[in-house]
Amino acid sequence: MALETIPLDNVGVEVRGFDIREPVTGDLRDELVNLWNEHAILLFRGQEVTPENQIAFSRIFGELEMHPLKATTSLDYPELFMLVNEPEKEKYMAASYNGQTLVNRLDWHMDLHYTGKPNRGALLRSVVCAEQDGLTGFGDLAMAYEALDEETRALLEKLEVVYSFSMQRRHMRYVDLDGYEPGPCSPRKPADVGFPNFPDVAYPAVVTHPVTGRKVLEIVEQFLDRIVSPHKAGLCNDESIELLERLVAHTRKPEFHYFHLWEPGDMVLWDNWRAMHCATGVPPGTQRVIHRTTIAGDATLGRVLDAG
Ligand SMILES: [Fe+2]
Repeated sequence: MALETIPLDNVGVEVRGFDIREPVTGDLRDELVNLWNEHAILLFRGQEVTPENQIAFSRIFGELEMHPLKATTSLDYPELFMLVNEPEKEKYMAASYNGQTLVNRLDWHMDLHYTGKPNRGALLRSVVCAEQDGLTGFGDLAMAYEALDEETRALLEKLEVVYSFSMQRRHMRYVDLDGYEPGPCSPRKPADVGFPNFPDVAYPAVVTHPVTGRKVLEIVEQFLDRIVSPHKAGLCNDESIELLERLVAHTRKPEFHYFHLWEPGDMVLWDNWRAMHCATGVPPGTQRVIHRTTIAGDATLGRVLDAG
């Protein structure tokens, strides 16, 4: 069966021409995996999906894992991570952005990046959509790398960048803090919400994708902290900070992004070793349910520093 692909805005493709409830075997399976590796972001629309269908479909792309920061997993389907807006959780997530209170707004990030071993990918399925807002953005960092000039690419080959986990957004050095005010219940340290104290992790500034071999600009603004030993690459501290500011601005260019406005039955699969993602958030009290499956990562891309 030949699949039809339709380009999304800027990056990724919508895939048509198959029914997820049917067994996916042989050539079709290979075709789907190849599309994922080629485009990094795949959208499927209008599929009638049970949790069993979603789990079986996700397994085409690799072994599944439980999300280690599980807030809610389904008792019947432990592979399914259920993202549900609930008042009790919302009070921790609420913050003000230019005077508007939002929950579940997330800066550009890669999942589990702060561990050095990001998961390979994930699939989100929209079960209950927000009436408005609540977009998920995806950014292709292989495309961002390819758009850099030769001089910058050569410099980046010599550099490592450090990510420093933090619960407080105002401590993140390269996110846009203009107009930001934390909420009254915003967690102040990882232990407040049961997270470990993750040590810093260093990544090559350019990571070679373990499966496709494509070069990925390993600059994601959430938790981005500093360049390791910038003087070894001939940079002073000021130059290294300005370089990170320039690279973050580069990754924010719209030509590398696709923002998805969810409709019921939509599924998006992305390659978490290549694509960053973000969430624009929703007003408190918004009804929204997303089912997520996570494809395990079997490669260590970053090295853990000062683990003690
Ligand atoms: Fe995420």
